[in-house]
Amino acid sequence: MESNYKLVDFKTLGDDRGSLIAIEEGYNAPFDIKRVYYIFDTKQGVERGFHAHINLEQIAIVVKGSCTFVLDDGAQREDIKLTSPNQGLYIKGLIWREMKDFSPDCVLVVLASEHYDESDYIRDYDKFLKEVKNEED
Ligand code: TYD
Repeated sequence: MESNYKLVDFKTLGDDRGSLIAIEEGYNAPFDIKRVYYIFDTKQGVERGFHAHINLEQIAIVVKGSCTFVLDDGAQREDIKLTSPNQGLYIKGLIWREMKDFSPDCVLVVLASEHYDESDYIRDYDKFLKEVKNEED
């Protein structure tokens, strides 16, 4: 599977009452949304994630506050700070991810293309690097 990630801008529907963003599969979500989960009340200094997925597409949205994703494709690591509900971070394929620097008010919503499945996780970094190499061969 080709690995990639990108920031996507969501159209904000706003009027004098405030703002609204809609995410619909087939329009601004490029996969069938089978699961939604959210991370909140994260304690100061906590780092989460530390895994990759074999076969999962996700869009991560910080609907409140901020946090930083560290994304690693096996060759390069990049920090992506999410600070706005207008943006989503789309992640597909073999990408090692870590999350850090959660603001106390951070609410991180994740849309996922599959149900929760522990067998889809790679939680060992060396195993992740081997999987990346296997894909390249
Ligand atoms: P974990 O994978 O440790 O979260 P993170 O990758 O953000 O550090 O998940 C924490 C617990 O929640 C773990 O026991 C698995 C469970 N879980 C579910 O049951 N369903 C889900 O959709 C997710 C993401 C986690």
